[in-house]
Amino acid sequence: MSKNLMELDKKHFIHPTSSIQQQQKNGPSYIFEKGDGIYLTDVEGNTYIDAMASLWNVNIGHGRKELAEVAKEQMEKLAFSSTFSTFSHEPAILAAEKIASIAPEGLNAVFFTSGGSESNDTAFKLARHYWKLKGKENRRKIISRKKAYHGVAAASTSATGIPQFWDMAGTFMPDFVHADTPYEKSTSEAIESIKKVIEEEGPETIAAFIAEPVQGAGGVIIPPEDYFKEVRKLCDEYGILFIADEIITGFGRTGKMFGLENWGVTPDLMTFAKGVTSGYLPFGGVVVSDEIHDLMKERSTGTLFHGFTYSGHPTACAVALKNIEIIEEENLVENSREMGSRLLRGFQKIKDNSHIVGDVRTIGLLGAVELVKDPETNERFPDEWNAAGKAIQALYDEGVICRSVTYDGTDIICFSPPITMNAEEVDSLVEKVGNAVKTVEKELNITL
Ligand SMILES: Cc1ncc(COP(=O)(O)O)c(C=O)c1O
Repeated sequence: MSKNLMELDKKHFIHPTSSIQQQQKNGPSYIFEKGDGIYLTDVEGNTYIDAMASLWNVNIGHGRKELAEVAKEQMEKLAFSSTFSTFSHEPAILAAEKIASIAPEGLNAVFFTSGGSESNDTAFKLARHYWKLKGKENRRKIISRKKAYHGVAAASTSATGIPQFWDMAGTFMPDFVHADTPYEKSTSEAIESIKKVIEEEGPETIAAFIAEPVQGAGGVIIPPEDYFKEVRKLCDEYGILFIADEIITGFGRTGKMFGLENWGVTPDLMTFAKGVTSGYLPFGGVVVSDEIHDLMKERSTGTLFHGFTYSGHPTACAVALKNIEIIEEENLVENSREMGSRLLRGFQKIKDNSHIVGDVRTIGLLGAVELVKDPETNERFPDEWNAAGKAIQALYDEGVICRSVTYDGTDIICFSPPITMNAEEVDSLVEKVGNAVKTVEKELNITL
């Protein structure tokens, strides 16, 4: 059975963000068939901790029957109908109302999409539309940051600040500029870099600045404490819209409902996806400030020619509503915060007992362990030592699935497990990570 699936996979399935040659040589690395809580089981019957919540998105964990039931009910009643041309339905109306109620203060109107990339492309277009309505069509440029990941649609690929994502087909847009990431930088250095880009490009040409509250795919980069307050100030100073990409950081991931709340900062537009349905159905959207919405209400005459077939998909909306209800009723935001602190204490113990662990960090249940050749000086391992690759393999042998980030010579192991994780599960994950680190030390011949 699984052999047959392997062959069919190789023959017919072009995988996203994968090495095609590796697939052709080895077949798919896993073929999963079941999910339950924080665990995934493959067709061979092996069970793993899904320490990435798959793609940072299965926030409430696998196998939640409540979501399946709600989806079934909604599909039987009204699986799909359009929201174009002002057609509407109850699930979309209620999902918009619910998301507005949990979004930051002053962001109350929602445009729905089917995922993160569409959400960011939509946010860029809404930002430009805002300036157009204000008679400032020159404000077209989008500033993002190095190491940012904003998706792979045309505009979001261009906003993404990881050059590997431009290799496939280049970028599609001029008008996208990248400032420095705050990774291993002080607030003033990182802010200065954004300011420099604004000045070089000309403030009157900038529509918006976009940032993930915590850079995810770039390596779980938690900014310095006062960074986002300064970003907000800078955007206000130059009259630039601030878009928060909360696609990973939303819905409890960082120990707050939305990531920017950690620093008491409110964006002008906020994009979301992933955790809004915990991945049970593809869904996403953009929430905009009252100021943007009011301007649109006043001046956006004629049709807004922007919409996806699945904008406000009724079944996805119903699942989102149930998912958010579960997050609230089970206090999962608080759980994420508490379990995140526990995970950090565990990581710190691993660091204390190791010669290859550099920085460890968590914010809610989003975290990273960096492997370095010398924790004192932060000297990195040479690429050919493949430290991160060895760690991922060792974790896999321990029954843990997670992900490494090796851009710019880093060896960062990322963690983003379901936010339902309990203390026992956190401790079990920590134990396995500790074992994996020891294995890597042995393989690299670095032992006490
Ligand atoms: C921060 C961020 N923005 C945008 C996206 C793109 O979302 P999607 O893959 O749903 O298009 C992702 C996906 O990982 C993401 O992490």
